[in-house]
Amino acid sequence: MTTISPLIAGNWKMNGVSQSLDELTELANLLTTGEAPRAVVVICPPATLVAAVAAQGASSGIMAGGQDCHANASGAHTGDVSAYMLADAGAQFVIVGHSERRADHGETDDQVRLKAEAAIGAGLKPIICVGETEAQRDAGQAESVVAAQLAASIPDGAGQHEVIVAYEPIWAIGTGRTPSNDDIAQMHASIRARLVDRFGPRGNEFRILYGGSLKPVNAREILAVENVNGGLVGGASLLAKDFYTIISAV
Ligand code: G3P
Repeated sequence: MTTISPLIAGNWKMNGVSQSLDELTELANLLTTGEAPRAVVVICPPATLVAAVAAQGASSGIMAGGQDCHANASGAHTGDVSAYMLADAGAQFVIVGHSERRADHGETDDQVRLKAEAAIGAGLKPIICVGETEAQRDAGQAESVVAAQLAASIPDGAGQHEVIVAYEPIWAIGTGRTPSNDDIAQMHASIRARLVDRFGPRGNEFRILYGGSLKPVNAREILAVENVNGGLVGGASLLAKDFYTIISAV
């Protein structure tokens, strides 16, 4: 199995104003004064702060990402941001298909796939999110739900590009609850198997991130689970100290 360098991404969601860049400064200080991090570090702030994060993070190796992009490059889509615009602002990554977007904006797997294709076209690395509801897990459908999301949300061309999968069980997001390590291992193994089925040996090179109540207190054990190649962190990415502890846990 190929060794995959871990990646820890912070998803600030709809949190963060210019003052929040103080946290970024603190994170940069921690990253540059402490032991060099093993993980690739990404911050996905609101679109209003992408350019500032990209500029300010550069000297400490922090990379910027968007939280969503439109599938088109430009046009009459009031309020939307295209992948090209994010790239132009200095982003290198973009989250697509987050469950909050799927729920709040009715995004389908097909739309998520088109967004991922747009991201690749703009030179960004898409972080494609998948995950089941609690009811689906209770009904024993977690793996089949995630498999269907993967099949329809990941573009066929993903094997030729750097595409990242983030497994985020919806019931674990912002709740303080997480699956057991065995359940995480089982789901990540299932995702890996499907990536290899579809993309051949290249499927072993995709990063599969875990997201959902990843905190300083549980990061070390979750990030050590087989096939967990990093994390997508919400609440705990807002405070530099907490996020740094998670980064240092890999
Ligand atoms: O994208 C990250 C996310 O949905 C997890 O959020 O706050 O549970 O870490 P949180």
